[in-house]
Amino acid sequence: MHSGYALLSSVLLVLLALSTITLVPRMPSPQSFYRSPPPRLMNSGIPHPSDAGDCSFSDGKWVRDAAAVTAYREDCPFLDPGFQCIRNGRSNSSFRNWRWQPHGCQLPKFNATDMLERSRNGRIVFAGDSIGRNQWESMVCMLAASVPAGKLRIYEQSGKPISRHKGYLSMVFADYNLSVEYYRAPMLVMIDRFPVSSGAVRGAVRLDRLPRHASRWAGADVLVFNTGHWWNEQKTIKSGNYFMVGDRLNMSMDIKEAFRWSVETVKDWEISSTRVPNSYFFFRSYSPSHYSNGTWNTGGSCADHPDPVTTNSDQFDEEYTWINAMISNVIDGIRSQGRRKAQFLNITYMTELRRDGHPSRNREPGTPQDAPEDCSHWCLPGVPDTWNKILYAHLMSMGYDTRIK
Ligand SMILES: *[C@@H]1O[C@H](CO)[C@@H](O)[C@H](O)[C@H]1NC(C)=O
Ligand SMILES: *[C@@H]1O[C@H](CO)[C@@H](O)[C@H](O)[C@H]1NC(C)=O
Ligand SMILES: *[C@@H]1O[C@H](CO)[C@@H](O)[C@H](O)[C@H]1NC(C)=O
Ligand SMILES: *[C@@H]1O[C@H](CO)[C@@H](O)[C@H](O)[C@H]1NC(C)=O
Ligand SMILES: *[C@@H]1O[C@H](CO)[C@@H](O)[C@H](O)[C@H]1NC(C)=O
Ligand SMILES: *[C@@H]1O[C@H](CO)[C@@H](O)[C@H](O)[C@H]1NC(C)=O
Repeated sequence: MHSGYALLSSVLLVLLALSTITLVPRMPSPQSFYRSPPPRLMNSGIPHPSDAGDCSFSDGKWVRDAAAVTAYREDCPFLDPGFQCIRNGRSNSSFRNWRWQPHGCQLPKFNATDMLERSRNGRIVFAGDSIGRNQWESMVCMLAASVPAGKLRIYEQSGKPISRHKGYLSMVFADYNLSVEYYRAPMLVMIDRFPVSSGAVRGAVRLDRLPRHASRWAGADVLVFNTGHWWNEQKTIKSGNYFMVGDRLNMSMDIKEAFRWSVETVKDWEISSTRVPNSYFFFRSYSPSHYSNGTWNTGGSCADHPDPVTTNSDQFDEEYTWINAMISNVIDGIRSQGRRKAQFLNITYMTELRRDGHPSRNREPGTPQDAPEDCSHWCLPGVPDTWNKILYAHLMSMGYDTRIK
């Protein structure tokens, strides 16, 4: 791009922003004009999340609330052992007594029966890395808690054990003909492994292709994507996984450029697939890790934080800002194609405040004493429950109901 053009367009953007601010100070956001009149299902107490004016679920504070009991318990049968922190030795469960209080509105109470009813004959699909799996397990347990243990028929579609960490798992809620599925896709795009004989090149991150099982993503009623933690040199180039576009490896492409390619691939799929436009499509923002005094592989720790951070400060790690900016940009692009059901699920700020919510040194049984702490995933019940409550709030405000599709 010519720098003259770049300068001109940024001047135009500034002018546009100024004119928006000075000429139309109290105009509602344009999308409220396109919004159809609230259907019967619309709960008037719930603000439209994209009307950033008086409420945004992404900004707020954590308030201690002993009544903030979790919908399910740690013995929910769908949890990975690594997320069951009390069982793994965490002595204090008071990290669960915090409620997210958004600025300017209330987060609606999660009603599992309501969510199940609205999802009848439906499919809810999570695709992403292990933190997406974290969120999926939270959702399955939140829904399963709607009835006393054992009363609801829930099983993995083809009998796969929950301990399986490859491919995908599909939990069927038989009484609702609903499946809540998780697809392991740590970078969302396809990762190909090469035979050992190919030397330093161990694999390729194919930026213009989705994984094979992506054919199953389309047709879901709700799609929740995430990625982020694998987009660094350690997980890619330094592990011998190079970026690839078409059938050519690109040894010089940097991480940001590659990430941009990959989210564009997701966007193209989203826009061009004929089955996706009916889905509520969410792309979750980055879930921050909290290693201090070292990184995950150099003895970093998050073990000594009993409470959330309550005030914002500049200690926040900015490493993921570019990831969120690109995701949010892609969602804007999709929405500008008329796809109003696409949403950027911005949980980064609230999550950044929760350094106390990780398994830390309370790792699953069998983990060696000297293993790194886990300051990336989340104890369950825990922080991802709030992400799902926000997901639910967005769905409610958009009138989600598979019974009227
Ligand atoms: C996400 O939300 C936080 C808190 O409201 C905000 O500071 C940040 O800019 C948002 N990120 C994006 C990419 O919109
Ligand atoms: C939850 O939703 C169900 C089904 O829509 C409804 O019957 C019930 O009253 C709701 N419960 C609460 C506490 O709002
Ligand atoms: C179950 O839901 C699927 C859609 O996911 C639908 O095709 C099928 O007809 C439903 N089965 C019943 C018995 O309603
Ligand atoms: C590799 O990617 C860089 C950055 O996008 C690009 O400039 C270059 O042309 C690419 N090389 C090949 C061989 O495709
Ligand atoms: C940081 O790690 C070093 C070496 O393990 C240790 O001596 C020091 O006490 C730690 N500092 C903090 C603040 O935890
Ligand atoms: C648990 O942690 C909270 C917050 O740090 C503290 O107030 C409480 O006394 C602790 N409870 C026990 C039993 O240690």
